[in-house]
Amino acid sequence: MIRPILLADEPILRQKAKRVRRFEGAIQALVDDMVETMHQAKGVGLAAPQIGVPLRLIVVELPEDHEDNSSGKLFVLFNPEIVKSSEEDEEEEEGCLCLPGYVGTVRRANSVTVKGQDRQGRERRIKAEGFLARVFQHEIDHLNGILYLDHLESPDALRRLPTEEGGPSDRETAPLS
Ligand code: NI
Repeated sequence: MIRPILLADEPILRQKAKRVRRFEGAIQALVDDMVETMHQAKGVGLAAPQIGVPLRLIVVELPEDHEDNSSGKLFVLFNPEIVKSSEEDEEEEEGCLCLPGYVGTVRRANSVTVKGQDRQGRERRIKAEGFLARVFQHEIDHLNGILYLDHLESPDALRRLPTEEGGPSDRETAPLS
């Protein structure tokens, strides 16, 4: 079921989400809804608070045509934590499904190691680089009540997307998550 995505001024997006301790039952339907909602919104990632559920759960999937080893691979992660980040960082534009029509330039670590539990509750450790690492950092921020806006070095780092009929064109849009 597709769930509505909250907009940036909703207080739930500013709360710290709670750990997930049970991996059976309703939570599995929530995972399905998040994947469906992410696909429908053409996003590359979604965190449960973005659909109003204050739990530590994220889904991430880079599009098939993205130049990355993990393109097209779906990651479902409960209680994700960054256990290692590279000292090297880079600035890149990113956008958020909670803030349609804008992108911002954000400095993030080039690579991170993320620890969490998969759909079956098994411990997982994922090494991510480049764009995938960026998306994990963005989604994990959502679980801590942080939006990419909070990382902007100046208001100039926020850019309004040119609109066309039917919304911003894909060419002009950084991937949203
Ligand atoms: Ni976001």
